[in-house]
Amino acid sequence: MEKGRLLLFPLPFQGHINPMLQLANILHSKGFNITIIHTSFNSPNKSSYPHFTFQSFSEESLAGCTSLLGNVKDIILLLNLMNKVWFDPFLDCVKRLLSNSSAEDPIRCLISDATLYFTQAVADLLKLPRIVLRTSSLSSFHVFHAFPLLLQKGYLSMEDSESEAPVLEAPPLKVKDVSLTFKIEGEALDVMLSGLMSGTKAASGLIWNSFEELEQSVLPNIQQEFPIPNFTIGPFHKYFTASASSLIAQDQTALSWLDMQAPLSVLYVSFGSLAAIDKTEFFEMAWGLANSKQKFLWVVRPGAIRGSEWLEPFPDELLEAVSERAHIVKWAPQQEVLAHPATACFWSHCGWNSTLESICEGVPMICSPSFGDQQTNARYIEAVWKVGLVLENGIEREEITRAIRRVMVDKEGIEMKMRISSLKEKANTCLTEGGSSYRSLESLVSFILSF
Ligand code: UDX
Repeated sequence: MEKGRLLLFPLPFQGHINPMLQLANILHSKGFNITIIHTSFNSPNKSSYPHFTFQSFSEESLAGCTSLLGNVKDIILLLNLMNKVWFDPFLDCVKRLLSNSSAEDPIRCLISDATLYFTQAVADLLKLPRIVLRTSSLSSFHVFHAFPLLLQKGYLSMEDSESEAPVLEAPPLKVKDVSLTFKIEGEALDVMLSGLMSGTKAASGLIWNSFEELEQSVLPNIQQEFPIPNFTIGPFHKYFTASASSLIAQDQTALSWLDMQAPLSVLYVSFGSLAAIDKTEFFEMAWGLANSKQKFLWVVRPGAIRGSEWLEPFPDELLEAVSERAHIVKWAPQQEVLAHPATACFWSHCGWNSTLESICEGVPMICSPSFGDQQTNARYIEAVWKVGLVLENGIEREEITRAIRRVMVDKEGIEMKMRISSLKEKANTCLTEGGSSYRSLESLVSFILSF
């Protein structure tokens, strides 16, 4: 008999679809059949996965709400809405899949994104084991878990003069990081975080796109906070690239342009699939980049500059100032860009996928976290792994130019490169036979087969 079928349900955003589809490929390579349950909103590219079955379910109730994606507060509202209105159609969908399944191809379990916490109640009703995939780092989830404590200790209402003080309950965060992480404090955030935490604790198991050697310091806390089997089996993209699940076409000229550049001479700039900046920040970025006199490859996602379609706010004098040293694209083949010998540094919003992809290619980072888990990732990059710098004053041209010099030109940058190269090696080793992620994946397979 085959190992059976797994139902996988990603949160329909790029930073969550990528790891879930990578996980699907990993488990498929271990002999499981895969059904991806998806929505029409940000529907995955089925043609890249002929070996999977896809099952959509009706989610009209979200129609019109996707305009909410403009800012963080609205993203949380949208997530809460998904968790409310998808219950019935998702329940019907899984019920149908269960009744159509056969003894030769039994459905073993549901693997859902942790953010879709309503799926625990569905799984309970149908007596189907549910494992969650948490697509962030362990460290940032540990900080999310500490939210009630941080709130109670007054970290969210401290004076500005305290902003640089350390948060003793969540090192290496500073007070200002806590307010940025939870900047939309209020009922919607409470609903989201308590659903996320209780839905994760109630799951049968917890899968992480991370590896033990990277997050050793926080692993015992996570095991205590989530006393269910934890599987650190990442980095996923080392098994299967993120390109196949890209929702936007990746501009391959990024690579041909990099081919023409000297080794370790280019700064890669991208703020992921959701973060947005305003026009003033965009000008500061552009001037900071221009004044650095370094070559740069810049991903400006359509819609990423609030109030404009794409590059219209770019004044001609600025375009001229950067034209010789820059290549600007709407979306890049990021993993290949980071692996390219010309890439020296990544100026990132520190989404977890970007952070992990950069670590795995040994590329030091400049950090401009925007919301959620990104603040913690940035602090770990700077203070724990010491492989990058955080821009402390938002997006401001002089600080940008200085940071670029520090990472790309100064001795400090060489030391970061050495440290991140050592993490890169650890990432490679953990996946080889006997390595930590290799062993964890073997346990995950046995765990699923025990259902
Ligand atoms: C979101 C959240 O913002 C992030 O904090 C969380 O950890 C995951 O969900 P996103 O903002 O899109 O994700 O960032 P990130 O996690 O870095 O994921 C972006 C993905 O898109 C990466 O896999 C990256 O390789 C890919 N990408 C990005 C491209 O393929 N091309 C690009 O030009 C930029």
